Amino acid sequence: MIRRIIACFCFCIFCYTVRSQQRLTVSLERVGLTFVLDGEGRPVYSVSYAGRPVVLPSRLGFVLSADSSFFTGFVLRGQERRVVDTVWRPVWGEVAAIRDHYEELTVHLERMGRWLDIVFRVFADGVGFRYVFPKQAGLRYFVVGDELTEFRMAGDHKTFWIPGDYDTNEYPYTTSSLSSVDNAALVAASTAIAVRVAPDRYAVQTPLMMKSADGLYLNIHEAALVGYPAMQLHVDHASLTLRASLVPDCVGNKAYLHAPFATPWRTIIVSDKAADILASKMILNLNEPSKLASTDWIHPMKFCGVWWEMQTGKGTWSYSDYPDSVDARGQLIPSGRHSANTANVKRYIDFAAANHLGGVLVEGWNVGWEDWFGNWKENVFDFVTPYPDFDVREVTAYAASKGVAMIMHNETSGSATNYERQMDTAFRFMKGWGYGAVKTGYVGRIIPRGEHHDGQWMAEHYVRVASIAAAYHIMLDAHEPVRPTGLQRTYPNWLACEAARGNEYNAFSDGNAPEHETILPFTRLMGGPMDYTPGIFRLRGYSTVAGRQVHTTLAKQLALYVTLYSPLQMAADLPENYAAHMDAFQFIRDVPVDWDDTKILEAEPGDYVTIARKEKGAANWFLGAITDENARTVDVPLAFLEPGRKYKATIYKDGVGADWKTNPEAYAIETMTVDSKGRLRVQLAPGGGAAVSIRPL
Ligand code: NOJ
Ligand code: CA
Repeated sequence: MIRRIIACFCFCIFCYTVRSQQRLTVSLERVGLTFVLDGEGRPVYSVSYAGRPVVLPSRLGFVLSADSSFFTGFVLRGQERRVVDTVWRPVWGEVAAIRDHYEELTVHLERMGRWLDIVFRVFADGVGFRYVFPKQAGLRYFVVGDELTEFRMAGDHKTFWIPGDYDTNEYPYTTSSLSSVDNAALVAASTAIAVRVAPDRYAVQTPLMMKSADGLYLNIHEAALVGYPAMQLHVDHASLTLRASLVPDCVGNKAYLHAPFATPWRTIIVSDKAADILASKMILNLNEPSKLASTDWIHPMKFCGVWWEMQTGKGTWSYSDYPDSVDARGQLIPSGRHSANTANVKRYIDFAAANHLGGVLVEGWNVGWEDWFGNWKENVFDFVTPYPDFDVREVTAYAASKGVAMIMHNETSGSATNYERQMDTAFRFMKGWGYGAVKTGYVGRIIPRGEHHDGQWMAEHYVRVASIAAAYHIMLDAHEPVRPTGLQRTYPNWLACEAARGNEYNAFSDGNAPEHETILPFTRLMGGPMDYTPGIFRLRGYSTVAGRQVHTTLAKQLALYVTLYSPLQMAADLPENYAAHMDAFQFIRDVPVDWDDTKILEAEPGDYVTIARKEKGAANWFLGAITDENARTVDVPLAFLEPGRKYKATIYKDGVGADWKTNPEAYAIETMTVDSKGRLRVQLAPGGGAAVSIRPL
């Protein structure tokens, strides 16, 4: 009997060893995946699209504290397959229902008594894969020295990239071939970004957007970044290979793990149509369903706020000019330029109430702004003590009387330890005063000192904030966090992030090139909504610094409410700047922030984007079209409208002679009757755009 068992066992090992030479393949529609252990037992995968190579055979594996060769000598001990095809409904989003359809292959690998699973999911629009360290005796607590995931590209693709910086995503995009990626000059020149740490000049950030010479669009990112550092990519110029480069901690380690543990998913989205990249829901599908017990308290909204006036230098966040400018009683001496004073805040509340904006954000309301960043100081803010001229009781009562929601601001200055200590107190304070949403911020070097914005410690911090905020029924908008990876599915109270170069760079730097907003949807927004703060109407002469201007037309600012999806959208300009153009402001009043359907009508990264969306629970459609520095004629069919129905279209477009540089504020508003058989033809100025509301007659 014993002999039979041993023989059977040996046969199994033999089978698996033989099988390990086999190619395992999975495909769905045009996407194909191949997995193989090579002759040395190294795991290798490749991806194809309609028979064309997308990722050439590329290696997988790790360097671990427990095993520095956890990438070779593996034996395939088994495999499992399954097909999933379901539909789920997000709490908010671009569409009401999302199909999650994939073919899954899990391979069970063993190397000298230690086990590693790799799970591949093949979708119609790409491939996701993750490593799983199962519970096992030989690998319990361990440190990741390196993740060796590779993506070998099949050509020297056109690439839209920002530097792989451990602390910021706020760079302008560069378009170049893969083999000419070099971030050194851009990092050195980007002095408007508070903290830059980009030690590898050949590293880029994800989501990374590429286009092959033969017209394939490829996007590489990650999904469900939990308990692990962000993955950046090192570009090897010679082999056109992208190598995972995990953001390290203060002692150079990448991650501290305890099996069982599943890494984030590595995602490769591919299509021969750029529009399909924007329509992909793969990253959301790879995230876990909502963890929240209830979500009826989550409300997407538009808001205005005490904000642009500080960005442009008209007012200040701080109450005093210097931390040590105090009187004989030790009280701060007011500079007279503090924006977050009760009277000014009420002005914004009035504006919101009169103009269908759900909320008002107030920055600079709490003490600490005199030396808020740049000193690596730990105890900067307490998040509960207002400046003397901000009457929290009066503001709350006034906002409530006008039906306006207040949005709290918690700038941490990168001192995450301080925020972790105060968070419960801060959330109790906001709930107590009726604030249902918070905008957080992480400007400055991180504390714990030596950690980075994109490392494992901070990745866990952001999720902790989202989850504790959810316990208090508070919605979250995080500025300067790691870039999102679809976790809004799991924490639907995490409405938006910044984590990119926002409109604010037009205030305090040379700004964003006209093509910038045509690249963002293909890069940063692939991971989740962005609080870009659109809606600047006064496009020149707003800054105390001469020569500053926004690099778009006014009509393009309107179009951004549709093309840059977010469930939180700011009407970012000052009420007095809107007053001169209330006819154009009507579009901001009308445009929703939650949608039943989305149609990507045309798109090309770096050139143009035209998107139509249907309002949630209503028959109205809204369309946004933007272009880069080149003028453009949009000519799109309106076939998405309900057949047989007549609609009134109101078109907010660039006026005659409009040009982002010389004549940005020229716009025209036109109405017409349209139906599903018609087309929309509209001319966009250089740096221009068009916004259209389409309502049933
Ligand atoms: C940077 C944020 O992006 C901006 O919106 C905010 O006003 C400042 N930090 C101050 O917190
Ligand atoms: Ca920022």
